[in-house]
Amino acid sequence: MIEEWNQFVLFAIVTGAGKGIGRALAIGAAEASADVAILARTLEDIQETAALVRDHGRKAYPLQVNITNHEEITEAVTRIKQEAGQIDVLINNAGMNIRSKAEDVTEEEWTKIFQTNLQGAFFMSQSCAKVMKESGGGKIINIASVAGQVALRTGVVYAATKAGMIQMTKNLALEWAVDHISVNAIGPWYFRTPLTDKLLQNEEYLQDILARTPMKRVGELKDLVGAAVFLSSEASDYMTGQTLFVDGGMTIYGF
Ligand SMILES: NC(=O)c1ccc[n+]([C@@H]2O[C@H](COP(=O)([O-])OP(=O)(O)OC[C@H]3O[C@@H](n4cnc5c(N)ncnc54)[C@H](OP(=O)(O)O)[C@@H]3O)[C@@H](O)[C@H]2O)c1
Repeated sequence: MIEEWNQFVLFAIVTGAGKGIGRALAIGAAEASADVAILARTLEDIQETAALVRDHGRKAYPLQVNITNHEEITEAVTRIKQEAGQIDVLINNAGMNIRSKAEDVTEEEWTKIFQTNLQGAFFMSQSCAKVMKESGGGKIINIASVAGQVALRTGVVYAATKAGMIQMTKNLALEWAVDHISVNAIGPWYFRTPLTDKLLQNEEYLQDILARTPMKRVGELKDLVGAAVFLSSEASDYMTGQTLFVDGGMTIYGF
């Protein structure tokens, strides 16, 4: 049964796949039998991820793309369509944060975070949905955050983009359900990646996080891979517009 489900994943695009969560999801897609397009700006990073995907016997297409640039997105998706012929899964993972206090946020910071976390994911979805429609459907997975659901000290702009992503997931799901494109999101709590490494090295900060986490540990990247493979496969065919929180119980914690 699981093998049959895995066959569904034929070609996946992962944005921000040069390191951290995106790299783990690209390798996870390859383990689940997909060829993978690996998008990010830093060439060495995407080439390294591509090598790891190929180690799993799958094809890898590293593409240097800045997802804040609409033209670069269109060119990349056109190229992927030409080379792969179809797009079964898009994982909108690329993201960033600048942790300014609300009174210190600059217009430049606001724009950069929104363009990366929300605008990039929207235009990637728009471009890929056109290709998915032609081939009968597909699955889009947005990597949101617990910060899009509850108020945290992660920075107001980041939180607003992730809340926007959770709502965008519902609206795109509604519009594209008739085209057999499902759109779901994953809301991670803390995972060790280049984005969070420094914060988690701060013992006081780490203890604060663990105190709010019923499972008393930060996440392991394989925990997210499981959720992404599920949302990429036929096992989740009747699900759309949902956000799966992979958070050690953080969002159910009432105190
Ligand atoms: N780590 C956590 O605990 C955690 C928790 C909740 C949610 N998340 C979310 O999970 C996602 C991945 O986080 P992470 O921790 O793996 O971050 P990370 O280690 O900093 O990796 C981010 C990836 O996104 C790429 N990226 C950033 N800006 C880009 C742009 N403009 N165009 C193309 N690629 C871009 C980066 O590559 P380049 O810089 O080379 O482009 C990199 O490959 C993010 O959306 C984040 O908000 C993470």
